[in-house]
Amino acid sequence: MSTDIVWHDHKITRAERAHTKSQRPCLLWFTGLSGSGKSTVANALDVALHQRGYHTFLLDGDNVRHGLNRDLGFSDADRVENIRRIGETSKLFTDAGLIVLSAFISPFAADRRMVRNLFPSGEFIEVFMNTPLATCEERDPKGLYQKAREGKIKDFTGIDSPYETPARPEVSLDTSTLSIDDCVETLIGYLLSRNMILNRTDAPQGRPGS
Ligand code: ADX
Repeated sequence: MSTDIVWHDHKITRAERAHTKSQRPCLLWFTGLSGSGKSTVANALDVALHQRGYHTFLLDGDNVRHGLNRDLGFSDADRVENIRRIGETSKLFTDAGLIVLSAFISPFAADRRMVRNLFPSGEFIEVFMNTPLATCEERDPKGLYQKAREGKIKDFTGIDSPYETPARPEVSLDTSTLSIDDCVETLIGYLLSRNMILNRTDAPQGRPGS
């Protein structure tokens, strides 16, 4: 980074932006193997929070790799850069006052720690999708495990590229034993217990058009 670039403080703070939405910004960081349920649970939580009237945003590996990170592959170096960009993007969205849900394999502990360190204490919530590899591989929703086993895809996480299990995630969920609703309930319970969201009774019910 050039030493001629000086940080410019904004007149409106992140707390003020969040306050107008009656919420506290935070990042729910879903990590786990492909097929472990990250996107499914993140989407279901997104719906549940939206229905309660919270302003959320969902960032998802497969989608972000179509745009912002379309230049990145699955080498270790590219995965590090993928997570760095997602971390910074997530931070911008929380600075805008939003509750952000990010669903990326993010296999390396050091990268997850780097993202955690971008946030004030308590605002980074690591959600480990602790679904066994055997279940993920059995599901194989995109047929990628089979391709990896056949050697048609290289550096596939869990097969020939490592996944470093989180040591102390805030929340751990195994979708081989828990339903999607169970996972959402656990996460809502966690957010309530940390006062990240309120038990709202006055929130608008239902989404537009739903
Ligand atoms: S990460 O490791 O850099 O965090 P990310 O979450 O963005 O990965 O992307 C993972 C998605 O890319 C998977 O859900 C899968 O659909 C697809 N994918 C394609 N190739 C690979 C690979 N070699 N390893 C893992 N996922 C892959």
